Amino acid sequence: MLRPTNYLTKNYGLPDGHKLPAYEKEGGYEQARRALRMPREALVDDMKAANLRGRGGAGFAMGVKWSFMPWPPKPERPHYLVINADEGEPGTFKDRTLMEKNPHAIVEGCIIGCFGIGAHAAYIYVRDELHLSKERLWGAIEEAKAKGYLGAKPFGLDYPVEVYVHTGAGAYICGEETALLNSLEGKRGEPRLKPPFPAQVGAFGMPSTVNNLETIAAVPTVLAMGGDAFSKLSDLHNLRDGGCRLYGVSGHVKKPGVFEACVGVTLRDLIYELGGGVDGELLAVIPGGSSCPILRADELVNAPDPKSPIHPWHGKSVLDVPMGVDTFRALGTMLGTCCAIVLSDRVDPVLAFHNLMRFYRHESCGQCTPCREGSAWIFRILDRIVAGEGTLEELDQLHEIADNIMGNTICAFGEGTAMPALGFLRKFRPELEDFVRTGGKSSTRRLT
Ligand SMILES: Cc1cc2nc3c(=O)[nH]c(=O)nc-3n(C[C@H](O)[C@H](O)[C@H](O)COP(=O)(O)O)c2cc1C
Ligand code: SF4
Repeated sequence: MLRPTNYLTKNYGLPDGHKLPAYEKEGGYEQARRALRMPREALVDDMKAANLRGRGGAGFAMGVKWSFMPWPPKPERPHYLVINADEGEPGTFKDRTLMEKNPHAIVEGCIIGCFGIGAHAAYIYVRDELHLSKERLWGAIEEAKAKGYLGAKPFGLDYPVEVYVHTGAGAYICGEETALLNSLEGKRGEPRLKPPFPAQVGAFGMPSTVNNLETIAAVPTVLAMGGDAFSKLSDLHNLRDGGCRLYGVSGHVKKPGVFEACVGVTLRDLIYELGGGVDGELLAVIPGGSSCPILRADELVNAPDPKSPIHPWHGKSVLDVPMGVDTFRALGTMLGTCCAIVLSDRVDPVLAFHNLMRFYRHESCGQCTPCREGSAWIFRILDRIVAGEGTLEELDQLHEIADNIMGNTICAFGEGTAMPALGFLRKFRPELEDFVRTGGKSSTRRLT
């Protein structure tokens, strides 16, 4: 159900809404002041009760992640909080709006987060091209320092906290948390084998928590409201998927943008209410950033098992399922970053598939053979198909290559390439076969 909220976005429309006076007028920094006086366990318990699923794509429970940090911290092994603002996933542009329009929520979230995980330093890793985002973050950090909210004695209390902005260099793989950690350390941005997980060996070899930027920006709201109340905002509270979140919509909609609402918005709400409807007829939607398998507009939910989280929607349109981490996994796709890419019927799905795979071939870091070779091979075959030189056998070969990437790589980029490829192959098989047979001549749809 669509229930708009404005906890994260309340300052978005205000002149100077990104500055400290506007943030403090709405109760800003009260929660950080309070958190630093709380027992750490109570703070982490409140975060667990919020059922805030990480907003960076994997949907891991944020409070549970904080609780993985070794406790108590050892003096010789300092803890670090690392905030992921790389935001390189095609179709995803929600974190940028927070940095530009509500940077103090991020700084306040960092203070609370540092205290929650026993850290005294937070690093915000920002994509370098986001110039305004960096400026706004630097400005917010300076304002908070000048007021004594950061530094040796935040709010006069004996818990030093510093927040630093670190800029990336535009490689999508640096959004993967362990590649990000390497890049932060000045190394090549290549993912690390896990285990060890960041909570054991993270930034600079020390215990670290990596949170997405929206995840940390929501922390002051959770604390102000109480974890349980935050969780209950959501239609999917019973699936432990709580709160409100940012939804993005782009592509062939009349009003692309970022919107805030309770968890449980459907794709139909997102496309037709928030996004203002489709420019043309709806063909398909990629629900949460380009790594999420595509859904066709004419698909129906197939969930006869009463234990399935989407059984209540069995037989209904996929557009009517509330957008949640577990509901969308059960649909055979992913919620990802909750930023949908809408494709109208003017799009040729074969060309869209080709375009998407160009991105993955380019962004593979090259460490693992199945990902490096597989992504390039998929693209080469699609190149041939688009040039009118493909064969039907090559469609089966595409399946096989994508299957062989799954589960055989160091990081989730491999699956992030293979799953959308398999999605296009399964959902658009007739269109692909038709394209191969006619060399694309029967297609009247030329948009990618
Ligand atoms: C290829 C790849 C790119 C990623 N890019 C981002 C990103 O830009 N931002 C982000 O928050 N998470 C990204 N992630 C997910 C992170 O690895 C990690 O799960 C996330 O930052 C954890 O934060 P969360 O638990 O708050 O979601 C990416 C993962 C992969 C595999
Ligand atoms: S899966 Fe791909 S991106 Fe990830 S480490 Fe392997 S080669 Fe690099």
